[in-house]
Amino acid sequence: MAAAERVVLILGGTSDIGRATALAFAQSQWTVRLAGRSLPDLQREADDISACTTRQVTIHAFDVLDTASFTAFVDALPDLPDVVISVVGLLGEQPRAETDLDHAKEIIRSNYEGPALILSVFAERFLGRGYGSIVGISSVAGERGRSSNYFYGSAKAGFSAFLSGMRNRLAINGNIHVMTVKPGFVRTKMTEHMKLPPLVTATPAEVGEAVLSGLNRRKDVIYVRSIWFFVILIIRLIPERIFKRLGL
Ligand SMILES: NC(=O)c1ccc[n+]([C@@H]2O[C@H](COP(=O)([O-])OP(=O)(O)OC[C@H]3O[C@@H](n4cnc5c(N)ncnc54)[C@H](OP(=O)(O)O)[C@@H]3O)[C@@H](O)[C@H]2O)c1
Repeated sequence: MAAAERVVLILGGTSDIGRATALAFAQSQWTVRLAGRSLPDLQREADDISACTTRQVTIHAFDVLDTASFTAFVDALPDLPDVVISVVGLLGEQPRAETDLDHAKEIIRSNYEGPALILSVFAERFLGRGYGSIVGISSVAGERGRSSNYFYGSAKAGFSAFLSGMRNRLAINGNIHVMTVKPGFVRTKMTEHMKLPPLVTATPAEVGEAVLSGLNRRKDVIYVRSIWFFVILIIRLIPERIFKRLGL
């Protein structure tokens, strides 16, 4: 297939990571479709990307919490994309989630239930067509439960496990690729209130480039900055009796 005909759909197109990923694909001559809750925000992103790259960018209303609308959402797209990327996520507020079950539910549904179910709809469509790539932006926060963000982290852990299972199921069909992205820290709206160590903190542009390059190399799991692979290895090795005293 000619590069000019390839279509990528980005769910969560208004996020910093979604925008940077869209730009990376548009610069590589992909047609970009952006989906999200706010059509005016998506339109602004689409106009910027089109102006920088002259590529066609379309926008589509999508709410990851509205699971009943998923089939109709996919049916209404102009075409079945070659690649679908779920960037949707919600950090939320851990202390609030500890007492506010509605907020806890929103975090769990936004990071796990919704992304898993919409990608599941695409998996079946890709199977029917015979090819396609599915990318989920998960998080290293899912590698081990921490006191400071375990609603978010456990939902990302569920999402990573889901992507892993779907990848293993679809591996029998050599033309369907599932990639999990664990970006580490990224400087975005989500983390603007945090002091992040520069060595382990990527830019949204680095994430966009890593997604494109990981897809081209058909990777299963990528850490945007490779140092995270070793950080996670160490974090996993810390015995629970010590880990619980670290106040992480
Ligand atoms: N920043 C980091 O350090 C970091 C690290 C690891 C993983 N991640 C993951 O990377 C992804 C992007 O995060 P970001 O840092 O770029 O933060 P962000 O700007 O807050 O992005 C979150 C995105 O999810 C969308 N979203 C939230 N709830 C939604 C809903 N109900 N329906 C549709 N879209 C919804 C937001 O749309 P609205 O604009 O409508 O709110 C936004 O586009 C997330 O999955 C995040 O968990 C981020």
